[in-house]
Amino acid sequence: MTLLQVMAADNAADVRVRTTDDTVIAAELAAHGIAFERWPALEEAAATSSDDLLAHYADRVAELNASGRYKHIDIARIHPDDANPEWPAIAKGAREKFLNEHRHAEDEVRYFAAGRGCFYLHLGDEVLAVVCEGGDLLSVPAGTLHWFDMGTRPDFIAIRFFEEEDGWIGDFTGDRISEGFPTLDELLTAS
Ligand SMILES: [Fe+2]
Repeated sequence: MTLLQVMAADNAADVRVRTTDDTVIAAELAAHGIAFERWPALEEAAATSSDDLLAHYADRVAELNASGRYKHIDIARIHPDDANPEWPAIAKGAREKFLNEHRHAEDEVRYFAAGRGCFYLHLGDEVLAVVCEGGDLLSVPAGTLHWFDMGTRPDFIAIRFFEEEDGWIGDFTGDRISEGFPTLDELLTAS
């Protein structure tokens, strides 16, 4: 379920928009200069190798990167592995990496081939939480204050587009704003 929840930046309980309508989500985000679109998701993505996924999406990736600005395109994937005693620590470590507010020097472009993750965009006096699911493409403009929650059971496959090899590195603001907002798990259980 793709979801957009718009909240006041100084009061997460002040929910101004909550919608699962793709068209409304795209329009709300476009009004803020944020690109959002849906590509047909591959049912069996989890069982498909990263190379085969890149091959499957080659035409769309080429179209998105027609200017050649993205020099590094890869796939990030994480799935629950309860048989691995290290999994809880791996999941916690991965989740905490981008859970605090930061920005990047380049656009953060992600296509979710499967699973889900939530981007929180801190735009002026509002925070837009965007839960992306398999099929969603989101582009967070360079310099935009944001954070990302992959939830307590991280499970997603995402195509990442970078201009520079270290484009994923975050410039953290030190602001604890994210602690006052619902987590991905909480957003999904709220009605
Ligand atoms: Fe980021």
